[in-house]
Amino acid sequence: MILKGKEKQEIEKKTAGEKAAEFVKDGMIVGLGTGSTVYYAIKKLGEMVNDGLKIKAVSSSKATTKLAESLNIELININDTVKIDLTIDGADEVDHNLNGIKGGGGALLFEKITALLSSRNIWIADSSKLVNKLGKFPLPVEVIPFGSKRVFEILNSTGLNPVLRIRDGKNYLTDSGNYIFDLHTGGINDPEGLDKELKLINGVVETGLFTGIADIALVSENETVKILKRGK
Ligand code: A5P
Repeated sequence: MILKGKEKQEIEKKTAGEKAAEFVKDGMIVGLGTGSTVYYAIKKLGEMVNDGLKIKAVSSSKATTKLAESLNIELININDTVKIDLTIDGADEVDHNLNGIKGGGGALLFEKITALLSSRNIWIADSSKLVNKLGKFPLPVEVIPFGSKRVFEILNSTGLNPVLRIRDGKNYLTDSGNYIFDLHTGGINDPEGLDKELKLINGVVETGLFTGIADIALVSENETVKILKRGK
């Protein structure tokens, strides 16, 4: 079947999402990412739970909590576990070293914390997300509102072209009540270095640069899935 445009992207999201669910086994504590790709993995996990799969899950956002609850997936508080066995999440961009940009949907802070507690991280993506160099997608940076103008000026003066995220005419607020600046970097040569540099600015809570986190990425092309491994 020849797929194009939005239809191709949706089929690819579903293909990758459902493939990721195959990695989930009985007894696991599973981290659930956020977004329109992981939606398909969570839906599939809901079906598996309905068929008898026993898992507990940690949610990375209010939206994911709502979805998981609607599917009868048992959720636990992240502070009630010392580790998560496996986290499944989407990405806005992923490169061949499995560095990525996340946070297009605003859940970067909880997603990163969930990922850091996970023994294994699987990313799922449609073919449009795989890039040679990160940075075409604006890089989300979560910033506390207090003094955010100062942070904006610093980012602006370093040529990172921040744009305050607005939704429905108001400043977008994350689940933690913070703002997001989307950085139009024009291309990121050193993702790890930029992540560290941004985190040094007081007021920056988290960045959407995820480096050294994903163990594998399932990237779909039409209805087939390519498995990319970090460091391979
Ligand atoms: C949520 O803030 C994001 O990190 C998403 O995981 C990422 O943006 C991918 O989202 P989609 O699967 O909706 O493209």
